[in-house]
Amino acid sequence: MDPLETTVILTRWVHLVATVVWVGGNLFFLFVLRPALRSARDAPPELSRLVGTRFKEAVDLSMWVLVITGGVLIYDRLTDRIEAPYLVTLTVKLTLSTVMFLVAMSLGRQGGRRQSSPLEGSWTEIIPAWVERAFMTLRLGWAAVASPTNVLAVLGPVIVFLGVMLRVIA
Ligand code: HEM
Repeated sequence: MDPLETTVILTRWVHLVATVVWVGGNLFFLFVLRPALRSARDAPPELSRLVGTRFKEAVDLSMWVLVITGGVLIYDRLTDRIEAPYLVTLTVKLTLSTVMFLVAMSLGRQGGRRQSSPLEGSWTEIIPAWVERAFMTLRLGWAAVASPTNVLAVLGPVIVFLGVMLRVIA
């Protein structure tokens, strides 16, 4: 195995570990922690905020790791001849990753409009008021189902799927 192959294997491994931390953390929150916190009557109100702050640190690190290792993987692939399906899948993956990064960074933001824990949030805290009003006017009733945390939990596995597809169609 030459040094380049070793580097690609290590990079892919780190990319996957960061994926496990972030996407796994989101799913753990959705299916385990949030239901548990909601049903624990004696849980201190501070707990959710503290857990969120800790998780934000892990997410911030994972985002950097994904961008850097993802950049190395792209560089590695661009040295091969790549076909249109690979480029289209990669573009969709990067677009959805950007959406995920923006939602996560907005959720983790400290400041005036931030009232809930960085782990749990509502769109009203992170999108401009006029966008929210526009949605309300359309009477879509979307906010409860498509909360930022629910969107993150769905986007993660979708992006993982696209990443696995990249491996197969490359
Ligand atoms: C939420 C963020 C992301 C997640 C969950 C994610 C997840 C994954 C997964 C699971 C794979 C398959 C790895 C394998 O089977 O070896 C993959 C591949 C890949 N990812 Fe990501 N990724 C994310 C963000 C990014 C970003 C930001 C970039 C680029 C800057 C990137 C570039 C790539 C590339 C190029 C591949 C394919 C490598 C190949 O062709 O074998 N990813 N990703």
